[in-house]
Amino acid sequence: MSSPLVVAVDGTSGSGKSSTSRGVAERLGLRYLDTGAMFRAMTWWMLRQGVDVHDADAVAARCGEPEIVSGTDPLAPSITVDGTDVAVAIREDDVNAAVSPVSTVPEVRGRLLRLQREVIAADGGIVVEGRDIGSVVAPDAPVKVYLSADPAARAERRAAEAGAADVEATRESLLARDRIDSGRTTAPLVMADGAVHIDTTGHTLEEVIGLVVALVEDAEART
Ligand code: DC
Repeated sequence: MSSPLVVAVDGTSGSGKSSTSRGVAERLGLRYLDTGAMFRAMTWWMLRQGVDVHDADAVAARCGEPEIVSGTDPLAPSITVDGTDVAVAIREDDVNAAVSPVSTVPEVRGRLLRLQREVIAADGGIVVEGRDIGSVVAPDAPVKVYLSADPAARAERRAAEAGAADVEATRESLLARDRIDSGRTTAPLVMADGAVHIDTTGHTLEEVIGLVVALVEDAEART
């Protein structure tokens, strides 16, 4: 029997990763996992516990404690920490500002990697979005996509999603996160070997979903 389909979607914040991944999962009847939400949930818990998120040793010492559970329905993504629904709270500014430093801690990445692989290994194909899916989490994924977009387009999308008035501040916050995400030592944001690069600037969401669906169909036709 062939192994279940994994579609790895990596890219920068605001490149359209989430909408594209959910759309592809919906169109193809696959599950969906947002790994960024898991890093955000870990960060939310650290902040709530009063852990200094810039103290890597303190973060490493506590990162085994929270129970983080991600739903995989693309129509109703969900995430809980110790049973509390944090889907809204993890998108707040305090989490935006703290998530990159927390994500650089190797122990955090190790713990979440195990959780991510457990979800991926459960029944059924899955679209997984993040920063290191094609390179580290699922390097054997038969379909790997790397999405990018120019910073102005990304800031406008993110500000619209968040209802934020200040597009410039959103742009600065995105670029600051990109610098940390790309520069860290463990599992930095990179284009994975074998990934197809799609620049989403100037493309509609439906067009990008269509491009990824075509890649999946191609890969399936070859197996
Ligand atoms: O996709 P997002 O903006 O919700 O991700 C939030 C942060 O989580 C991002 O700044 C870096 C981190 N992240 C990561 O390090 N590795 C992943 N696979 C996914 C997210």
